[in-house]
Amino acid sequence: MRIDVLTIFPSFFDVLEVSLLGKARGAGLLDVRVHDLRDWTHDRHRTVDDTPYGGGAGMVMKPEPWGEALDAVTAGSERPVIVFPSPAGELFTQRTARAFVETDHLVFGCGRYEGIDERVFAYAATLGEVRLMSLGDYVLNGGEVAAMAMIEAVGRLIPGVVGNPDSLVEESHEDGLLEYPSYTKPSAWRGYEVPPVLLSGNHGAIAAWRHEQQLLRTRERRPDLLVDEE
Ligand code: ADE
Repeated sequence: MRIDVLTIFPSFFDVLEVSLLGKARGAGLLDVRVHDLRDWTHDRHRTVDDTPYGGGAGMVMKPEPWGEALDAVTAGSERPVIVFPSPAGELFTQRTARAFVETDHLVFGCGRYEGIDERVFAYAATLGEVRLMSLGDYVLNGGEVAAMAMIEAVGRLIPGVVGNPDSLVEESHEDGLLEYPSYTKPSAWRGYEVPPVLLSGNHGAIAAWRHEQQLLRTRERRPDLLVDEE
């Protein structure tokens, strides 16, 4: 899978070198290319923003560098998915991550300031499938941290990136519920005991207990996830 990132802060993505995704890149499972949007400016100051038409606070990212950058990274690619992280986008979920991992080519366009000139999204839609995606109902300073989160969520679903594929199946959100609690040795620690059922060796009872814990947790912490089932 190929991922291109367009940003004015390429160094934000240096951490992709470490950890699981670094290994995935080394193994050739994931080809991430991070580009400085300013490479597609042509003035001495490498300007990427300007004041908004109609007035208002802040600066808006100019369309021209985005147009050239999108042309360059999508050249030769069959309609990639072009993601613009935005608090005004649709919610990114595990379901989105599973859909994105099926694509061969993802492009992340990281906006800063008050946003990107709206015409860029219309133009991008002529090159690929445009998705404005939000991480949640809060505002970050720009798309970089959101893009990193999405790259990690998608990257770890690439077959071979996570060592034991079973661990992908049993985690939070894969079955619409939060994950059950986990314990390891010792069975008693500072007065806290591991639930006895987990030491029973009764696999049926353990599976039933875990499912019940998933439901309890989800009802308590994220009742919004259960609305379809109740
Ligand atoms: N950019 C700024 N805030 C964001 C958010 N909540 N999600 C995605 N991108 C963003």
